[in-house]
Amino acid sequence: MPYAQITGLGFYVPENVVTNQDLEQRFETSDAWIVERTGIRQRRYFTPGKDTNASMAAQAARQALERATVAATDVDFIIYATITPDYYFPGPGFAMQRELGMTGVGVLDIRDQCSGFVYALSVADQYIRSGMYRTILIVGSEIQSSFLNPTTEGRSVAVIFGDGAGAAVVQATEDAEHRILSTHLHADGTFAEELMVKGPGSSREGRWYDSAMENPAEMEVYMQGNTVFKHAVVRFPEVILESLKANHLQPDNIDLLVPHQANLRISEYVRQHLGLSEDRVFNNIQKYGNTTAASIPIALAEAWESGRVQSGQLICLAAFGSGFTWGAALIRW
Ligand code: ACO
Repeated sequence: MPYAQITGLGFYVPENVVTNQDLEQRFETSDAWIVERTGIRQRRYFTPGKDTNASMAAQAARQALERATVAATDVDFIIYATITPDYYFPGPGFAMQRELGMTGVGVLDIRDQCSGFVYALSVADQYIRSGMYRTILIVGSEIQSSFLNPTTEGRSVAVIFGDGAGAAVVQATEDAEHRILSTHLHADGTFAEELMVKGPGSSREGRWYDSAMENPAEMEVYMQGNTVFKHAVVRFPEVILESLKANHLQPDNIDLLVPHQANLRISEYVRQHLGLSEDRVFNNIQKYGNTTAASIPIALAEAWESGRVQSGQLICLAAFGSGFTWGAALIRW
């Protein structure tokens, strides 16, 4: 039975840098408030007419494929995680597939919000282990900026999110040591409405268009920040410990934790809870904000580029997000 390993990573962030000082010009906020509550100093916003969710993913995917020395035509399957598709349907995975010249290859769209990449990796791992596919391209790509309310009313959410894309090539290997060790997925729909974009939704009278005109706020991100925070700080450590236990390992064994970049305070809480030193947790939310399904592949690709991911190391990916969803992946690099 084959195992699965990540053989290439890539990421793309749009060139438009939006600093906290830029946001200070748009609504009532301050760099000090944003940095203290979230750790974020700047984020990227897409350039309309240049970037799309699919084009950003294609850029990230090209880099990941090149680093894996895999031709686009050798990919057997695509898994695409996003909650901000270019169209309501079909998902952007199809446009990316077309752009990369991979027509004919199956595309699976994944929602699962901030946990989307971990869910995607888990599916890729299982497809490869079952022998169904040998080379899978997985991506997380988001354009969050057009779902934000950039006014004082929407500021507690608007300061958090950014745009970007990350990609990984996952391939079959006979190497029992350097591989994805296990993945662990969870969800609790009790809290589905605590972090959501309500519209466009199907279960309403008349055309959703009319409802959107009446309640435009339903088309923007709604978040009960405190509730999200309280659950995130419990679920992150819980699922990381679950993944370690499944592999008879301890927090001490983690060489690098790459958490979903939700909020620097959450990452810091998780780090302290697990007793990890600062150099064992990778954070880049300071530069890119929270990019939802793209945050883990962007962070992992950047960690790899900077030499923080080395052969033989134990890498832990962990996510928590809307749904609520949460999950972890343990990888022996
Ligand atoms: N700038 C300045 N002041 C602000 C801003 C802002 N951008 N946003 C809110 N405030 C004000 C509020 O109006 C309020 O003022 P008041 O006390 O006079 O009423 C005060 O700051 C506190 O507001 P809260 O909403 O209670 O702020 P809180 O301390 O909860 O921080 C935050 C908000 C940062 C969202 C926090 O709840 C949090 O970190 N939650 C975790 C959620 C998270 O990180 N989500 C990430 C996305 S989800 C995910 O990836 C899983």
